[in-house]
Amino acid sequence: MHTLIDMSDIKRAQINLTNVSQLTLFANRFAKLLEWQMPLFSEHPWIIFLDGDLGTGKTTFVRAVLHAMGEQGKIKSPTYTIIETYTIKSWQILHADLYRLADPEEWHFLGIDEYLNEKTIFFIEWPQKGAKMLPKPDLLLHYTFLPQGRALELTAFSQRSTLLLESVHEVYM
Ligand SMILES: Nc1ncnc2c1ncn2[C@@H]1O[C@H](COP(=O)(O)OP(=O)(O)OP(=O)(O)O)[C@@H](O)[C@H]1O
Ligand SMILES: [Mg+2]
Repeated sequence: MHTLIDMSDIKRAQINLTNVSQLTLFANRFAKLLEWQMPLFSEHPWIIFLDGDLGTGKTTFVRAVLHAMGEQGKIKSPTYTIIETYTIKSWQILHADLYRLADPEEWHFLGIDEYLNEKTIFFIEWPQKGAKMLPKPDLLLHYTFLPQGRALELTAFSQRSTLLLESVHEVYM
């Protein structure tokens, strides 16, 4: 696997995903690590922000993670519905795309905060459109275009997501 990982700082990792099959391979590992961590630190919902330009692969990544966790049905992009929900094993998975929010205040009208619990994993594309209204993230996944494929930078903001990045490091080194 021609994946390059740089973990100079344990709170940040960069991985090159040169095609969709590499993305899928990484998403499988990411899903396993997340599933393993969930029961250990389950006092809050897991909040995962995904940002990066249009078409950098945010939805593709979430789709691959959900498939790896066992979702069998169709995984639609939430571009038009804003939010899609899934129940996988005992987890409640939420997948939002806030690109179409005209104003961050609209977040409150969605009423999502009421659904969040310790069994929730919440993936949010275009989090900047919800700005300060959103819960604090555990992890930021930032995607950029490469001449071939995409670069993914992962930044951890919590103790449990730092542990997840350490596990990513162990898997890749
Ligand atoms: N690592 C990768 N290498 C090559 N192509 C990729 C990679 N990741 C995603 N793609 C391709 O990029 C295209 C756009 O992906 P996707 O819809 O997931 O982007 P997005 O970031 O969710 O866009 P938006 O901001 O519009 O929601 C898809 O055709 C997908 O197959
Ligand atoms: Mg998308």
